[in-house]
Amino acid sequence: MTHKILVLPGDGIGPEIMAEATKVLKLLQQEYGLSIEMEQALVGGSAYDATGTPLPDATLSLAKDSDAILLGAVGGTQWENLDIAVRPEKGLLGLRAGLGLFSNLRPAILYPQLADASTLKADVVSGLDIMIVRELTGGIYFGQPRGVRTLDSGEKQGYNTLIYKESEIERIGHSAFEIAQKRDKRVCSVDKANVLECTELWREVMIRVAKDYPDVELSHMYVDNAAMQLVRAPKQFDVMVTTNMFGDILSDCAAMLTGSIGMLPSASLNEKSQGMYEPIHGSAPDIAGKGVANPLATILSVAMMLRYTLNEKQLADKIESAVNNVLDKNLRTADIMSEGMTNVSTEAMGTAVVEELQNK
Ligand code: IPM
Ligand code: MG
Repeated sequence: MTHKILVLPGDGIGPEIMAEATKVLKLLQQEYGLSIEMEQALVGGSAYDATGTPLPDATLSLAKDSDAILLGAVGGTQWENLDIAVRPEKGLLGLRAGLGLFSNLRPAILYPQLADASTLKADVVSGLDIMIVRELTGGIYFGQPRGVRTLDSGEKQGYNTLIYKESEIERIGHSAFEIAQKRDKRVCSVDKANVLECTELWREVMIRVAKDYPDVELSHMYVDNAAMQLVRAPKQFDVMVTTNMFGDILSDCAAMLTGSIGMLPSASLNEKSQGMYEPIHGSAPDIAGKGVANPLATILSVAMMLRYTLNEKQLADKIESAVNNVLDKNLRTADIMSEGMTNVSTEAMGTAVVEELQNK
């Protein structure tokens, strides 16, 4: 079976890191018999510049037609003052909503070779391996009504709506528990049930879903405490499951524990296991075009794609061990550079991973 992959480089460093990730895909195609068809399309600010919208219809329909989407990053300072409806981020949100990608998996893994990159003490983070499962198509990001209205007094009032249906909570709960079964069998559900009714329901539904997974332990934590625990004692967590906005915030926090946001991939899946794969980091406009960005998060996103959508677990393992090996060889892009290491460009890092895969 030939897998259809849509490549969306996006903005900023997106095209540079994507060039390295597609190099890896082509190698797998040529030397490991991976059967794929790749197409490329526009999204984000570059799509807005070319077509007037951050998510052209052509891109959305190609996306719906693919098994997997590999996305670089969207956004940049030149688009920050656009109307919110056409900002680059809307391209991303439109893809998530359009494909129903409700389950967002954001691992935070500390590579032992990079233990010094964390701002936290090595003993607090060494061996860290957390999976944040973020609900991605509901909650306050998409809730209606939303907007800015003018009150009778003439004063403006902004408003958004935090809403979740039981079925939305259930399905993200199942995602989290299924992943936990393959890991350390612990799920921590993060909410603000002491203040928000919507997340009181969230907690209730999680307790219900947990009954289907007697081998997995469920705990609950308020989001403020979870933020604190993530920096105090992050290794207490295995899988965390939470709402769209809490997950947005906590996943950045968790990523930073590893000191190397340039290393972390993510997956966004729908009910059919169609998926969008992207690095956790953004478009980094300040370093775009300089050839210094770290392509490893995008390359590791390819590994997640192989694992979760294409069902090529062995190839996923191969990519992950190739990345480990280039780190063992002391190759470092600027973001993970430290004393005694060899500083390499985006392209050299991609080539090093390809060479590792060729040597297998
Ligand atoms: C993320 C990003 C997005 C989000 C933005 C770019 C819309 O921060 O993927 O975490 O808020 O979900
Ligand atoms: Mg975010």
